[in-house]
Amino acid sequence: MAAALPSLTPLLIFARILGLLVAVLIFVWALAFSSSFGHLPPAPDDRIFDVLHPLFMVIGFILLSGEAILVHSWLPGSRNLRKSVHLILQGLALTFGIFGIWTKFHWDRGFLANFHSLHSWLGLSVFTLFGAQWMMGFLSFWHWREVRATRERVLPWHVFLGLYSYALAVTVAETGLLEKLTLLQTKRNVPRKGPEAMVVNSLGLALALLGGIVVLTAISPKYTPSLPTIKQPFVSNSKPLSS
Ligand code: HEM
Repeated sequence: MAAALPSLTPLLIFARILGLLVAVLIFVWALAFSSSFGHLPPAPDDRIFDVLHPLFMVIGFILLSGEAILVHSWLPGSRNLRKSVHLILQGLALTFGIFGIWTKFHWDRGFLANFHSLHSWLGLSVFTLFGAQWMMGFLSFWHWREVRATRERVLPWHVFLGLYSYALAVTVAETGLLEKLTLLQTKRNVPRKGPEAMVVNSLGLALALLGGIVVLTAISPKYTPSLPTIKQPFVSNSKPLSS
């Protein structure tokens, strides 16, 4: 007898609520505490570049790439449609990520001067991994035969690396929040238990929870009405991340 698979709807709804919470919190931080952004003394034109980095990375990069992963869990229609929406959303996330990193190179301090922290090193690694993944997906989508044949074989790796780079991106954002908050608390006397710290810490918690829910949804079995299914926790019965 075919066992019924649990619906993914509650997980999807929870992921969207958390995504919304993350977006609201980052806007509250950017708007209500705007004096925390920019170099000392704050210059109006460099403040915008400083504030755009977390906005682009969190909303543009992490929330969009999470949505791209979730597409495989809810979008009805053909596999090709899911693949194209997945590819477009990941492409948009990548574009936002490029702009987000570019904002940090606005100050003309030289390329190497920027890479002094775990955050910047991890950030660049995640980005390189993400870009390579997207390029493989793009080439295979256009049916470049050799790439496609190879990719069918390496599909489990694509799924693993996709989830790994997403989880790593969330970790990078957490290190960015920590670095920025530490900087504010040590250099600008922002109180450790004040409202700004509450907003940033809540943002970090919501991001961590969101990352877990997105990964859990991606690896949960999907309901396919035409096929008899066997309940296999944490093993997907379709190919969730192919693009
Ligand atoms: C997936 C998300 C993120 C990625 C991939 C990322 C990537 C990067 C990279 C590559 C740099 C080096 C460029 C430079 O230093 O000029 C950087 C710098 C920086 N980022 Fe992020 N970032 C992310 C999210 C965030 C968030 C959420 C914050 C919070 C405010 C943040 C704060 C900073 C700060 C303060 C710097 C300058 C100091 C440093 O280089 O460590 N980042 N980021």
